[in-house]
Amino acid sequence: MSELKLVGISGSLRKASTNRLLLQEAARRFGEASFVEGNIRFPLFDQDLQEENGIPPEVQALADQIAEADAVIVASPEYNKGITGALKNALDWISRTEGNPWRDKPVAIVSAAAGRAGGERSQNMARLVLSPFRPRLLTGPEVTVAQTAQQWDDQGRLTNELGIKLLDELMGELRREALRMRG
Ligand SMILES: Cc1cc2nc3c(=O)[nH]c(=O)nc-3n(C[C@H](O)[C@H](O)[C@H](O)COP(=O)(O)O)c2cc1C
Repeated sequence: MSELKLVGISGSLRKASTNRLLLQEAARRFGEASFVEGNIRFPLFDQDLQEENGIPPEVQALADQIAEADAVIVASPEYNKGITGALKNALDWISRTEGNPWRDKPVAIVSAAAGRAGGERSQNMARLVLSPFRPRLLTGPEVTVAQTAQQWDDQGRLTNELGIKLLDELMGELRREALRMRG
């Protein structure tokens, strides 16, 4: 069997994003697989733009990466109790591509945020806005990294023991689902 393909999407665009660190930690804990982080730095969705110029190449590239992946991890920060505009914009663009790359795709959502709830509300919102695409969204365990600025060591590794345990469990579930979908 060929190597499993894993794609990560961070809802935060900033260079030092802890959600990106969380994606990388999750990928390590997923185990043997190729891992790429998808780029969501897209123009703001505007239907006129799509009608005039079609789907931007960077949007198609991510849609193709998702379509070819065995599993996807979405790491969602919380901006004002919801997902980031960048993430919603990316989902809206991808929904305009041919086919539906999310259909039946094993997907795990995780979140890292400054607040005590670790982005729980953004995680709920991410679940809500991904549901129409009918992926195989894992229901748990819920991985929320609270007070995220304090949870990473100098190598960018997650230090929170409970977080590590839950992430291991969630990635185990994601791997099982990915293997099950391969048949
Ligand atoms: C516009 C904005 C809104 C935010 N709103 C929340 C919030 O509602 N809840 C929360 O826990 N943190 C909130 N934060 C703090 C983020 O959780 C924090 O910046 C976090 O590190 C973002 O994830 P990142 O490290 O991946 O960029 C907000 C930050 C920004 C910039």
